[in-house]
Amino acid sequence: MKYFRHIKLPFEHDFSELAKWDDLPDNLGYSVRDADFLGQQLIDTLAQYGIYFAHIALFHTPPRKMLPIHTDTYILPNFAKLNFVYGAKGSSMNWYKLKPGYEVVPVVTDDQKRYRTPTGSNVAYVSIPGSACTIAARTSVGTPTLINAGQPHSVLNNTDEHRWCISIPLRAISDDRKLEFAEADEMLKDLHA
Ligand SMILES: [Fe+2]
Repeated sequence: MKYFRHIKLPFEHDFSELAKWDDLPDNLGYSVRDADFLGQQLIDTLAQYGIYFAHIALFHTPPRKMLPIHTDTYILPNFAKLNFVYGAKGSSMNWYKLKPGYEVVPVVTDDQKRYRTPTGSNVAYVSIPGSACTIAARTSVGTPTLINAGQPHSVLNNTDEHRWCISIPLRAISDDRKLEFAEADEMLKDLHA
């Protein structure tokens, strides 16, 4: 199983100011913005490889905080996001394998914009206790890194700096489907770092 791939973009652009929007909550903040927030250059570059994005999310992890282990949906697909991290050099994104016999349990939320299970519950993500996992991979996310957001993961900011992450779910231009990690990794192979 592949969990991440560092990507080298063919242009220099500093997105770090974008990540520091001050309307994020003080804690483990999350906010969604329109695709054009990041600018045309990134949109055009991904389009060359058949990829587009409809929205982006911003995450803020304060110093010495950990974003607990979770998956970004209620099932365990391998869907791809392109993440840009600023600040907190040395912080890590970690992936985990579930121990045999552990069943994933959705976290129910009243946020209608999030995911909906086949039984009709709305879920934001799936929370997983550390005791149910073993570590599978770890990296320091770059600017950017392609990441597998469907497998259990956490973020550890073990530094004294704030950590800002721009996170972009990737879709295929051809048929609008959400891209799996392996598929996006292949489509972007010319940009592998
Ligand atoms: Fe996540």
